[in-house]
Amino acid sequence: MHALIVVAHPDRKSLSHGVAAHLGEGVSLSGPGNSFEFADLAAEGFDPRFTEADLAVHRREALPPADIAAEQARIDRADALVLVYPVYWWSMPGLLKGWIDRVFANDWAYDEGPNTPMAKKLGHLPVHLVAIGGASLRTYARHGYFGAMKTQIDHGIFDYCGAPVVTSELLLGSGRDDPAAHLEAARAIGRTLFKTVRPSAAQAAA
Ligand SMILES: Cc1cc2nc3c(=O)[nH]c(=O)nc-3n(C[C@H](O)[C@H](O)[C@H](O)COP(=O)(O)O)c2cc1C
Repeated sequence: MHALIVVAHPDRKSLSHGVAAHLGEGVSLSGPGNSFEFADLAAEGFDPRFTEADLAVHRREALPPADIAAEQARIDRADALVLVYPVYWWSMPGLLKGWIDRVFANDWAYDEGPNTPMAKKLGHLPVHLVAIGGASLRTYARHGYFGAMKTQIDHGIFDYCGAPVVTSELLLGSGRDDPAAHLEAARAIGRTLFKTVRPSAAQAAA
């Protein structure tokens, strides 16, 4: 089993990268043959700007540009998709949002045309979300920010495409004083990543 771990943070020494690395370690420890690869969007220079070429794909007038086809191909090679990101303005960073905008395109993530009913196309792809925020749990609870994020991201994006969100974790306080607990939580997510794969996804991967 293979996991694609997408990280959206410009600083390799950030907690987000630390969390991603520990999660990957957990995947490696989770069983013989289990593997992972990173998609470090900042280091790879992914361009999150939604262009006319992307709009043509959305309108089903063109095939995806090469950079998007490559992103879709590496997700297609994975049995699980993991997103690790810092919370920016109570949501994901623009870099990751642009990746979703461009990669989760019509005809690949879902199927929607003028004369056809909408179809979800990612039912085989378990998704694990790990967000890292600087604010306190109290602040999140008082304003309903985590619920808002779940509505927009878990439901609005992944459920729209049929991808089951298996993990939806929020690591708070940024672990500045003691990041060990967050890193340990990340390793634990990695260790159980494939244990929580739904049967339909396991069958699709077989
Ligand atoms: C532009 C920006 C916006 C941020 N917005 C939020 C926010 O809305 N909620 C929150 O909890 N933390 C917010 N933060 C704090 C980051 O989530 C926090 O710095 C980060 O998770 C720390 O981990 P890192 O070492 O991976 O950067 C923001 C930080 C930046 C730079």
